[in-house]
Amino acid sequence: MCGIVGYAGHRDALPLLAGGLSNLEYRGYDSAGIALCAGDDVTVYKTVGEVDALRETLPESSEATVGIGHTRWSTHGKPTDGNAHPHTDCTGEIAVVHNGIIDNYDALKAELEAEGHTFASQTDTEVVPHLVEAERAAGKGVKAAFESAVARLEGSFALAMVAGDGEEIYLARRDSPLCVGHGDGETFVGSDVTAFLEHAREVTYLENGDIAVVTPDGITVEHDGTPVERPVERIEWEADAAEKGGYEHYMIKEIHEQPHALRQALSGRVGHGSVDLDVDLPEEYVRSLEEIQVVACGTSHHAGLYAARLLESHADVRTTVHVASEYGFTGGRDPSRTLVVAVTQSGETAETLGALRDAARVGARTLAVTNVVGSSVARAADESLYIRAGPEIGVAATKTFVSQVATLALLAVHVGRERGVLSAAAASELLGDVRGLPGAVQRALDADQQVRDVAEAYADSEAFFFIGRYLGHPVALEGALKLKEISYDHAEGFPAGELKHGPLALVTEETPVIAVLTEGARPDETLNSVKEAESRGAPVIGCHSDGHGEKFIDAAFEVPALGEMEPLVANVYMQLFAYHVANRKGRAIDKPRNLAKSVTVE
Ligand code: F6R
Repeated sequence: MCGIVGYAGHRDALPLLAGGLSNLEYRGYDSAGIALCAGDDVTVYKTVGEVDALRETLPESSEATVGIGHTRWSTHGKPTDGNAHPHTDCTGEIAVVHNGIIDNYDALKAELEAEGHTFASQTDTEVVPHLVEAERAAGKGVKAAFESAVARLEGSFALAMVAGDGEEIYLARRDSPLCVGHGDGETFVGSDVTAFLEHAREVTYLENGDIAVVTPDGITVEHDGTPVERPVERIEWEADAAEKGGYEHYMIKEIHEQPHALRQALSGRVGHGSVDLDVDLPEEYVRSLEEIQVVACGTSHHAGLYAARLLESHADVRTTVHVASEYGFTGGRDPSRTLVVAVTQSGETAETLGALRDAARVGARTLAVTNVVGSSVARAADESLYIRAGPEIGVAATKTFVSQVATLALLAVHVGRERGVLSAAAASELLGDVRGLPGAVQRALDADQQVRDVAEAYADSEAFFFIGRYLGHPVALEGALKLKEISYDHAEGFPAGELKHGPLALVTEETPVIAVLTEGARPDETLNSVKEAESRGAPVIGCHSDGHGEKFIDAAFEVPALGEMEPLVANVYMQLFAYHVANRKGRAIDKPRNLAKSVTVE
């Protein structure tokens, strides 16, 4: 989820590339760099920090008319000068920028090192220029070498490469977006159109599997070795809308990014009945674990509640979930047998950081589950597990919730397998459901218009109640949180069984009840609560699978069969519902009053 820019034309590439990087920086990146083609070698400028920090290292102008640039959102290797892109080969003639994750980089790196290549970074990306170098040494031209290198990569990526004093930029796309802007005798490259919109509005989007060569005169595209034509589209949006990919708000853009975010979270981690998480939790330690304590706030706390149920049932380990601001390490247990998992999107939430430090102080092992490489919580924890959702700009957390739960579901499989309590067959079943999430979430997103109609019909209600059981409970809490924070309406989430113990007094014809009626959320028992609400005249909105509760639902959102992951799809409907209610009311959706994205004070 980094940003890529490129330019091939007749003007000085340097200011154009720097400008493109600034355009992409709205997504908040941690390092940046530029490679210019002039002379036999490429000239690379790169640094940790924002694009302004990079600008301080750049000359005022250059002779180069071809180049590429990158703003990095770390997924492999900390944000450092060395890990910033572009990456080069041993000869310094090849430079590459990359978005995404190369799953098999470890094996490729070992092979290349054995052949004598030396590496300067901890990134997955650096294998690409070295692979190209190896192919060229074997006698191939630049384009053929690039194609052969790309063919060896597993994972998801958008790649841009320049070579020596060449006039071309080489592109490859698999699962990560790339587009090209057509100017007058000049061609621009971007991971999205924001990179170059002030210079070019005629745009070609590459498709998965495409390899393209960019020159000042345009592009040639090949797919499976066959030349193909890709259409040219005209972009009518203004720059502000372009940052949001044409969406009205970051929040709705990020809701729609969930399938992609999930693929990134799962990429390279899921095998047949097993997972590879790249965290150092020795088998002996995992087997001896007495308790997992999750510490988190807000949406991350809800993700922790969901995960705790998976950890208890699949890994047979007692798991307690603590609102970080309420966490006091209670002692009385052997802390060396307690794993404290801090779940935090930003990695900067003061209370979560404080709880993690408290736990570490008394000797517990700590694990950060976060979206931000090198964040304070990641640095303070013994181990980090990244959710790889990409930058989230909207204050209301959306894509990071589902990415947190999916990543923690993998942790549950890992712990369950290491403890010998989860069979390969049961692990495969759960992993199959997790792998089905991107597609199932996409189906919910495709029903956006239906959700919008329902949201508009009920937007002026007095209050909203969200109910669910078991895995549906954290989702009910999250649905209510999302609605209240962006619409400012009164919304509450309950375990469905609690409705009759008090909240039912508030239920009227003016208070819709939104229920999770899916697998993993005890739909039959939840239906009792639905009937209690329905008989008091409350409209019922059901996020349901397999026709659960059909007769009692006024508006139904269909959840495809996905076992214990179904409530996460229900959550997507709730996000859309909250968004459309708030949007109808004209709320400041991306920056709700009184709230901040990163809460760094206690
Ligand atoms: C709600 C929301 C907040 C955060 C909470 C924790 O939409 O975004 O409730 O979840 O402030 O933030 P992180 O996950 O960054 O620790």
